[in-house]
Amino acid sequence: MGIKVGLLGLGTVGAGAVKILLDPADRHPLLSQIAIAKIGVRQLDKPRPVNFPAEVLTTDLESLVTDPEIAIVVEVMGGLEPARSLILKAIHHGKHVVTANKAVIARYGDEIFTAANEAGVYVLLEAAVGGGIPVIQPLKQALGVNRIQAVTGIINGTTNYILTRMQQEGGDFEPILAEAQRLGYAEADPAADVDGLDAADKIAILASLAFGGRIKLSEVYSEGIRQVTAADMAYASRLGFVIKLLAIARRNTHPDSEEPLDELQLRVHPTLVPLAHPLAAVNDVYNAILVEGDPIGQVMFFGPGAGEGPTASAVVSDILNIAATLVSGQGSEITAKTANPLLACTHQHYCKISPMADIVSRYYLRLLAEDRPGVIGKLGLCFGDHAVSLESIVQIGLRDNYAEIVIVSHEVKEAHFQTALDDLRGFPEIHSVASVLRVL
Ligand code: HSE
Repeated sequence: MGIKVGLLGLGTVGAGAVKILLDPADRHPLLSQIAIAKIGVRQLDKPRPVNFPAEVLTTDLESLVTDPEIAIVVEVMGGLEPARSLILKAIHHGKHVVTANKAVIARYGDEIFTAANEAGVYVLLEAAVGGGIPVIQPLKQALGVNRIQAVTGIINGTTNYILTRMQQEGGDFEPILAEAQRLGYAEADPAADVDGLDAADKIAILASLAFGGRIKLSEVYSEGIRQVTAADMAYASRLGFVIKLLAIARRNTHPDSEEPLDELQLRVHPTLVPLAHPLAAVNDVYNAILVEGDPIGQVMFFGPGAGEGPTASAVVSDILNIAATLVSGQGSEITAKTANPLLACTHQHYCKISPMADIVSRYYLRLLAEDRPGVIGKLGLCFGDHAVSLESIVQIGLRDNYAEIVIVSHEVKEAHFQTALDDLRGFPEIHSVASVLRVL
């Protein structure tokens, strides 16, 4: 019957995809033409959350990706290997691929899309970023006519959950992380999420689509949320901000003419977001991606960034997309010339990424200093000497017998701000630089 798919993996996302595929009523009619031929798992005799004929299960993953009957391989096993090798083998055997694996795509997208173009197959990845939020296909298709200026996202649910609780409860990072782990919102090993690495993978993928070039993951700056404190949350709130882990991809513009330049900034870091900004209201595990382009202006995608149903919705929408090309006869023997450019990867060059020293941002700084006359004046002079203009400077109280001083700068080149900071670290009146955060 119809179009045969093979699934690699039957974890949360795989099970969610199987549930949709086995229950096509009242969904797109093409779903009823899609059949699950095989599901590759590690262990045959585990209890499964979905019912399907037992004979579709196999532990022979190689035979699944080389099966001549299977047209679409759906990789939902996660991890780097054997996922990468199995995707490549499926491509070499002429299979279209659907994957939810942002880690593999962000690291090996170059190899995978080159192989896919040579083999004349499609590799779709809607579930890799933003879970159930449709953002990959809109960037490639509905927004494809725009010149994209920036993509700014909250694209890691775990960190958004932790930061939201810190903000709402006035708590510190460590105990809230422990609670999030207990509740299943954070992994036992939380590094990929809390250190910003998961968001870096995802913004690399979004930037590649938005700006039409490949991205070297090592060039994405990433800083996590471990250093964000309850004190910073409270000061941010007094100053009219919330702190969010933002992933930012932005085309640089000429400082005088605002003409777009052929280089991007690509960064993940905790950021003070003004309360009136649309991303400030995105809380808990939700994700949102704000795209700015010409002529559309701003458009924001919001929704569940993870979870069985939402992620499976994205996976099956990719299967449906490929199935549509197969039933219309466009999916067989495609070549680089005949491939649908709205589904295939059409770029090959690498984007130029500017160093962090060159970015222009506002900064938030919290210092502990001796509480004596002239300290604030000295700070002002130091910043002035480095062309850093200050927007606000406040001393609200004492912490550990030191004056706690909070400064927000105007927009300034990061290199200038860091040099000023290096200088003032040497002042005898400065006890410590407690936090430095960027401001949107
Ligand atoms: N670990 C991810 C997050 C979910 O916390 O958003 C899957 O991408």
